[in-house]
Amino acid sequence: MKRNVIVGQSGGPTAVINSSLAGVYNTAIERGAKKVYGMRHGIQGLMKGDYVDLSKYIKNDLDSEILKRTPAAFLGSCRYKLPEIHEDKAVYDKIFALLNELDIEAFIYIGGNDSMDTIKKLSDYALLTGSDIKFVGCPKTIDNDLALTDHTPGYGSAAKYIGTSVKEIIRDAASQEYAHGIATVVEIMGRDAGWLAGSACLAEGEDCDGPDAIYLPELPFDMDLFMKKVKKALDNKGYTVIAVSEGVRTTDGKYVCEGEAGTGFVDAFGHKQLTGTANYLCQVLASKFGCKTRAIELSTLQRAASHLASRIDVIEAAQIGGASVKAADEGTSGVMVVFERESNDPYQCHTAVKDVHKIANEERLVPRKWINKEGTYVTDEFRTYVEPLIQGDLWPIMVGGIPRHLFMK
Ligand code: F6P
Repeated sequence: MKRNVIVGQSGGPTAVINSSLAGVYNTAIERGAKKVYGMRHGIQGLMKGDYVDLSKYIKNDLDSEILKRTPAAFLGSCRYKLPEIHEDKAVYDKIFALLNELDIEAFIYIGGNDSMDTIKKLSDYALLTGSDIKFVGCPKTIDNDLALTDHTPGYGSAAKYIGTSVKEIIRDAASQEYAHGIATVVEIMGRDAGWLAGSACLAEGEDCDGPDAIYLPELPFDMDLFMKKVKKALDNKGYTVIAVSEGVRTTDGKYVCEGEAGTGFVDAFGHKQLTGTANYLCQVLASKFGCKTRAIELSTLQRAASHLASRIDVIEAAQIGGASVKAADEGTSGVMVVFERESNDPYQCHTAVKDVHKIANEERLVPRKWINKEGTYVTDEFRTYVEPLIQGDLWPIMVGGIPRHLFMK
């Protein structure tokens, strides 16, 4: 590399998004970039001229190691949708003027399907205007719903946290004794895709039966079947633990959480904030069966739990960050780097690049055949798919018994 690199983070954070940032930084320096800039709060911050020189924060190998194990977006995230080029060319002129001023050679954006829309538009504009800046997407999302990649960094660690937490919740529930039993509903993120909810199956093993049902957003939520399942479990063993995606909808397309005051806030991409599914379902169960209930929303914890990160995930996140810089350095633009799985046992994966136009704004859902016929659990294929992604541990660097983080004031 002969000039400079700029990198941004966008969308919902993950436990390993900063590992990708470290991968981008280290690879850019190794390949000869003079400076590596970080956009503060993604493209939204950049448009206001808000960026930093990353060498001021990543001063040595220890900083880089701490960064890899720090959850949430070190640079700050955003959920910002660029206008279509024909709608507001001035916005693009302004961004490119700044990129030229900073002598940028490669623009790397770490994000999910909405963030890939930014790479798509900026690379289109570069083509249109003959700019030689390379725009490359680096995938990230706990939702695991990006098209054309086997999986996304962030998913493995979130899945490991969900499987572990659901198992601990089951252990707790099974030890309780209540006259009418106890029903626990665990609400898991992933608005349209059930990759995260499905990972609740990881709780199941020789020492645990797993949740009594798992509801994914890919299929309509059948309230009658749900009630029957809960009743059967309460009658047979006095407790039940059920995993539900935050995005489950009834047959009329209404979010189950809309039965509560669960939605209100809507982001720039038109996504409603989903919350309250578990609460709503618990209220219904308590009034029908008189049982004790517990609504557990894993919420932010599932994407910020770097103390339970998957080693594979942390390592792959750094690798794909590096691969994004390499792709740009080799002259590729308008692409996202993807994972292609070679085998499950031993687990082997390599990276490749794919046209971002086929990825931006698309969603990859759990295949129907990976969900059981009744729509209440995932199949063995799902488990075989997710298991390699949660392997190994990489502890945070602990100081005074608490993880140490790298952060920007
Ligand atoms: O896109 C990732 C994600 O974590 C989704 O699973 C979830 O619906 C959403 O972000 C939550 O976003 P926010 O933190 O903006 O409420």
